[in-house]
Amino acid sequence: MKYEIVKLRERPELVPEAARWFEHTFQIPESVYLESMKEMLSNRGPGSSCKAGAPVPQWYAAMDGGVILGGMGVIENDFHNRPDLAPNVCAVYTDEPYRGQGIAGALLEAVCGDMASLGIDTLYLVTSHTGLYERYGWEFLCIVEGDDGPGRMYIHRSEEK
Ligand SMILES: CC(C)(COP(=O)(O)OP(=O)(O)OC[C@H]1O[C@@H](n2cnc3c(N)ncnc32)[C@H](O)[C@@H]1OP(=O)(O)O)[C@@H](O)C(=O)NCCC(=O)NCCS
Repeated sequence: MKYEIVKLRERPELVPEAARWFEHTFQIPESVYLESMKEMLSNRGPGSSCKAGAPVPQWYAAMDGGVILGGMGVIENDFHNRPDLAPNVCAVYTDEPYRGQGIAGALLEAVCGDMASLGIDTLYLVTSHTGLYERYGWEFLCIVEGDDGPGRMYIHRSEEK
């Protein structure tokens, strides 16, 4: 399956559509995503590099033509009690017809690489899944207490280049 991984800070024109897309994934209002994406855009450095600005938050989408197939973000804290374990990959989602084809894996790899290029080589992620993230180089770290109960905290360290 052919798709492109888009860094939304480099494609601000896609932000309204992406915020709408994320709303249907976890039933969190579009306005929450929009606000975070606007913060991302306002943090950009010269051009769209974001080198001079804060690297968090960030948002990403896997796209085929104009269609969003999957997406995820990086925020400071994904609603849990361990603010020291930051920043967090969040809102990991692939639309149902496109699942099982490596889209989440490709997004995770792109996100880890992009964040490393912005100076963040360690990322965290809370999930209820077991086995999914191990496959993409993440390690189980500990159980954390989230707004919806306990969650499994994973860690990913990018190798030094
Ligand atoms: C989990 C999810 C993001 C995976 O997306 P994807 O693009 O299909 O992922 P990949 O193709 O890279 O990897 C697929 C693997 O994910 C695993 N996987 C997918 N759905 C899973 C689920 N519901 N439970 C456990 N593992 C799952 C399987 O091991 C699968 O491997 P397989 O194809 O050999 O069966 C997608 O199923 C989804 O959006 N689910 C609903 C939202 C969700 O649970 N998000 C994660 C929140 S932490």
